[in-house]
Amino acid sequence: MTDHYCVMGNPIAHSKSPRIHTLFAAQCGQDLDYRAILVEPGHFARAVADFHAQGGKGLNVTVPFKEEAWALVATRSARAQRAGAVNTLQLDPSGSYYGDNTDGVGLVRDLKNNQNCALAGKCVLLLGAGGAARGVIEPLLDEQPSLLLIANRTPGKAVQLARDFHDSGRIEGCGLEALAERSFDVIINATAAGLRDEVPILPPGVVQTHSWCYDMMYADEPTAFMRWAQNRGAERTLDGLGMLVEQAAEAFYLWRGVRPATKPVIQSLRQRR
Ligand code: ATR
Repeated sequence: MTDHYCVMGNPIAHSKSPRIHTLFAAQCGQDLDYRAILVEPGHFARAVADFHAQGGKGLNVTVPFKEEAWALVATRSARAQRAGAVNTLQLDPSGSYYGDNTDGVGLVRDLKNNQNCALAGKCVLLLGAGGAARGVIEPLLDEQPSLLLIANRTPGKAVQLARDFHDSGRIEGCGLEALAERSFDVIINATAAGLRDEVPILPPGVVQTHSWCYDMMYADEPTAFMRWAQNRGAERTLDGLGMLVEQAAEAFYLWRGVRPATKPVIQSLRQRR
């Protein structure tokens, strides 16, 4: 019998998740379908209940419903609990929902396994202090960077986020102007600036020729942040496509108990651009 999964978000039309999970299912011989469902704000809980009533086994959640998903589930993984956001739901036939967050592990796996970028001992800058940033902090700290600095346009939010995670590793928070005279091995963009084709305004010198710059967003062309970093001489600029596939693989593993190979799927998505 075919099992049903989906991704819910708004907007959702351009989601690559249906293609990713369909490729995973074919690769692993799993009988499932996976579709994208557009949900209007205020209707998330109803949409999940409807999907569950139709026999849905699990779903991914994307912008803007990850915090709502966190509040909706009965139980959460430790990493989802800490992230304050849920991107993967498992729907139990008894009617209870379990929530996980696979975004952070997806980012770290893409950096380590696909890009060969170990984070241990590195000085890492995380730009942004919203839900996207919060979701990846703990997995980044688990890699034991020499410092994880959160920098945000509104400094207080970065300072608060650093406080929230101070027990997990070396973490500090500041405003963007405070980055003057500092440089970093790895710079990760978790802001929403790219949605308007913008880049956070940073002091000159933050990007050095040894810096790796990673945009958690992806697009068919290099993102605004990648172009900006390239122009400042970054050693490597990377988009978030690998993170997307890795977080999906972790969700697939939770649902199906099988871990799909991600590299052929990343390759297939890049070829289709
Ligand atoms: P998400 O859940 O996707 O992280 P969010 O909670 O709205 O979305 O957070 C968006 C983040 O992007 C914030 O850190 C925001 O900075 P502020 O806290 O100062 O608002 C950041 N952001 C959005 N547009 C930006 C821009 N043009 N330049 C710099 N930072 C920006």
